[in-house]
Amino acid sequence: MTNFVLDCFFQPAEDLQDARLELALTNTGSKTLKSFTLAYTALTRAGQQAVLENADGLNRIANFHEITPPTGEEIQPGETWKFTIKGLANPARHRLDGPKSAYVSADGIISDVVCNDLEAPAELDTGERRSVPEGRIKTALSIVPWPQCVEVSKFSDELVAFQVADGSADEKSAASKINALAKRLFPAAPHPFRFSPSKTLQLLAFQQDADLSSDGYQLRFSGSHTTLTYGGYAGRDYGLTILAQIVHGAYSEPSTFKFPVDGTIKDEPRFGWRGMHLDVSRHFRGPEEIVRLLDILAWGRMNVFQWHLTDDEGWRLEIKSYPELTVSGAKRGPGCQQVAQLGFASEVYQGSYSQDEVREIVAHATSLNIDVLPEIDVPGHSTAVLKTYPRFADQAEVPESYHSVQGYPNNALNPAMDETYTFLERVFAEVADLFPCEYIHIGGDEVDTSSWLESPKAQRLMQELEIKDAMELQAHFMARVRDILKKLDKKLAGWDEVSHGGGIDPDGVLLMAWQTQEVTKDLIEQGYEVVCTPGQKYYMDMAQASGWYEPGASWAGVSSPESAYSYEPSAGLDPNGLDLLKGVQACVWCEHMIHNDIFNHMVFPRLYAVAEAGWTLPKNKDWQRFAALSRLFPSL
Ligand code: ACM
Repeated sequence: MTNFVLDCFFQPAEDLQDARLELALTNTGSKTLKSFTLAYTALTRAGQQAVLENADGLNRIANFHEITPPTGEEIQPGETWKFTIKGLANPARHRLDGPKSAYVSADGIISDVVCNDLEAPAELDTGERRSVPEGRIKTALSIVPWPQCVEVSKFSDELVAFQVADGSADEKSAASKINALAKRLFPAAPHPFRFSPSKTLQLLAFQQDADLSSDGYQLRFSGSHTTLTYGGYAGRDYGLTILAQIVHGAYSEPSTFKFPVDGTIKDEPRFGWRGMHLDVSRHFRGPEEIVRLLDILAWGRMNVFQWHLTDDEGWRLEIKSYPELTVSGAKRGPGCQQVAQLGFASEVYQGSYSQDEVREIVAHATSLNIDVLPEIDVPGHSTAVLKTYPRFADQAEVPESYHSVQGYPNNALNPAMDETYTFLERVFAEVADLFPCEYIHIGGDEVDTSSWLESPKAQRLMQELEIKDAMELQAHFMARVRDILKKLDKKLAGWDEVSHGGGIDPDGVLLMAWQTQEVTKDLIEQGYEVVCTPGQKYYMDMAQASGWYEPGASWAGVSSPESAYSYEPSAGLDPNGLDLLKGVQACVWCEHMIHNDIFNHMVFPRLYAVAEAGWTLPKNKDWQRFAALSRLFPSL
């Protein structure tokens, strides 16, 4: 039973210094609240120069705000205490931008507070909500992403499954694997593959063809016989997945989707990199949910899972040489070294993956042809590390001498500290051992341009190397990190800012272009390999419509399902540089995705819009078909 409710109203102003949050804490319990403080977390943050009205004190760390009421303030049952914060760091644009979670602390007792959605003047709401049309299909097949060539002339209304009649042990094992995948995702639907005769079975035969690419396949439907010809194991699995999708569609929507009995499908992916990134630092998702997400990726023939394992809000990967990282570094909330952020403020919020769990997850991914790209986000986004191991910081650095864009003070590992490199050598050695992926993603994003400038050690190094600013110092750090990775036989992947301050030798370096489409072009021109992941379209945390009631953020823009689907990653690129465009990736940042309902609303159907951009040639894309198919997509 929760006895307190927090309402919040956003009053915009042209100058953020005049913008206000009007907060009201109501006591819905039966006891008077006295001698208390209120803590809440909100992505619309008080600015550095915020002024309080009817409150005495504010302690803010990133999204955490702790408010001291006026001396003697008491809230009787049924009464409300109202106060205002004037001067905000950023504007609110949607209803989830206000307090996400809160607690009151009185006499050492923490009590949860229910947070209502943020309210704002009616004119801030355009009224738009996410919409996906019913859709229209031209071919009665439920397949996503759509294959390169579909020529099917006859369909059957009969519900069928396949009998794997002929096939090697490997081929039967692959069919069994995709059978299990389909059953995990859609437990109520029939299995697509059987291994002994029954009355409504198509006979499935396999053929390997060295002329097809390793992830290419062809399907020939002829009466009661289907042949799957494949180049390599991935192609074989992709063909089987298509068959499972066809069966699932024909079962789920028999009036729309049918079974092909005459024709062919010829297919291979457009790009080799069809990824999804997941931030488990802001919101932790346990191993079972990660496995389900991998299943969802495999269903969409996506082949990279970038696991964002560390950030300011928590370190999630067991590192045996630094065990505290997943003890204090993975926790936040009352009584922890890190204060609450985002959801669940009144609890100790924690979570991490043991190395054994990681090995199992990676093995599951590998079996589904998915590479797991681990991300250790440095040098910025390192509050969890620096709070856990304060000795890594230059002790003479001026506190709060810079803030990250999310409001964290002094949150970057210092390129002038030997400890930094010892730490990274040990961490990356363990990471390299856990993840077979040829890359390790080292982050590199959003380092504040004033970082380290008030660190005497950094100042000395800058003088010695004639480095003129923080970004050049970052480039020096990146070059050293790259050497560490090279010794571990790993290549460096990072966000696009790795190229800042002069960047590093682009040979073998893969960067994720997230800031704008122009960044994809710039990086390719500099010789980097690039994965296109523009925040404006492929960030799943961006709201899907401009309306106030749509969940999510819109600092990078509004990404409607149709605009995400229609986005063309090669737009504006020089044809000569196209071989450096490795593919596309959806990024799932989880500040807002603190419940699976929000996750599902925001991630689907856009995740598969990115899957289709990665797989299907632009001439074969069709928004209406995608919309019709989206009713059948799996979700968490
Ligand atoms: C990022 O969005 N900071 C990569």
